Amino acid sequence: MQRLLTGLQSSGALHIGNYFGALKPFLDLYPKYESYLMVADYHAVTSLRDPAQMRQNIFSVVKDYVAAGVDPSKCVIFQQSQVQEHTELAWVLECLVTVPFLELSHAYKDKVAKGLEATAGLFNYPMLMAADILLYDTDVVPVGEDQRQHLEYAREAAAKFNNAYGETFKEPKELIQKEIAVIPGVDGKKMSKSYNNTIPLFGTKDEIAKAVMGIVTNSSEGKPQVLYAIHKNFRTESELKAPYARGNNFKELKDMLIEDIEGLIEPMRAKRDAISDDEVKKVLKEGSDKARTYASKKMIDVRSKIGVAL
Ligand code: ADP
Ligand code: TRP
Repeated sequence: MQRLLTGLQSSGALHIGNYFGALKPFLDLYPKYESYLMVADYHAVTSLRDPAQMRQNIFSVVKDYVAAGVDPSKCVIFQQSQVQEHTELAWVLECLVTVPFLELSHAYKDKVAKGLEATAGLFNYPMLMAADILLYDTDVVPVGEDQRQHLEYAREAAAKFNNAYGETFKEPKELIQKEIAVIPGVDGKKMSKSYNNTIPLFGTKDEIAKAVMGIVTNSSEGKPQVLYAIHKNFRTESELKAPYARGNNFKELKDMLIEDIEGLIEPMRAKRDAISDDEVKKVLKEGSDKARTYASKKMIDVRSKIGVAL
């Protein structure tokens, strides 16, 4: 079986764009591989300095994935910071790549342009991500289009190491599902937590209703396009044909969308509420122990190849 690994920064509440763009595709994919799902908490340190928020986000991301249907007995769910080999290998990789090479990172430039402090950690972010992936001899990495360059960095880091010290790391492939549509937010731009235009995935019914009522209804080709683009993730085109043919019945369409979203979320919300923090800790402890067993063997090989193991 091929190995799949993906990482999620513990950086805030999920929205329905994340659900259809990342979580649902992951649900379809992960049983077909030996799958690793990693909470990238050390990556989150590049942007989050509030310890209470950090803790809460770590619990939150695991609850979201489990509530949405990821079965912790069918994949390894673990915490990056609890497998110290990640930061250790990142250092080794940082010694193999150059500053001008890392300076080409779009993600780094974008984040600095958005006002994030240009720390050395943010700059070295791609090598920590490369370590995450390479430690497990990962075959495929499901990510969004924005992460494509990070996979190129991971392959380059693997090749640099293999050239210097002999064949050690597998070059991983990104798995980017092209056919997944970008879901617009309530204002019509891409739904994103950075734009404050989201429909929260685990919001209360009132929060969801409020967000849906705010969806812009400018029409073209006889339809409120933004509302329709969101709605078509919940129903088939033929189911939507009649209600959307009736004209300016926006309130009716929005009420229908609220019920459709609620139909998806209500059972997941109930499941999420039933997951205790202690259960999350247990899942992460078991997963991190399993991940460490693999990663520590790999690092023994790495230390020996570099010549630091005497
Ligand atoms: P955000 O823009 O809210 O910060 P992220 O960049 O953290 O979202 O994205 C996490 C995952 O969710 C990625 O795989 C990304 O492709 C997917 N995703 C984010 N927003 C959308 C959207 N509006 N439509 C579809 N997929 C999305
Ligand atoms: N950089 C990824 C993101 O922001 C998160 C991440 C960290 C990751 N380590 C990873 C993704 C390893 C895939 C594999 O979305």
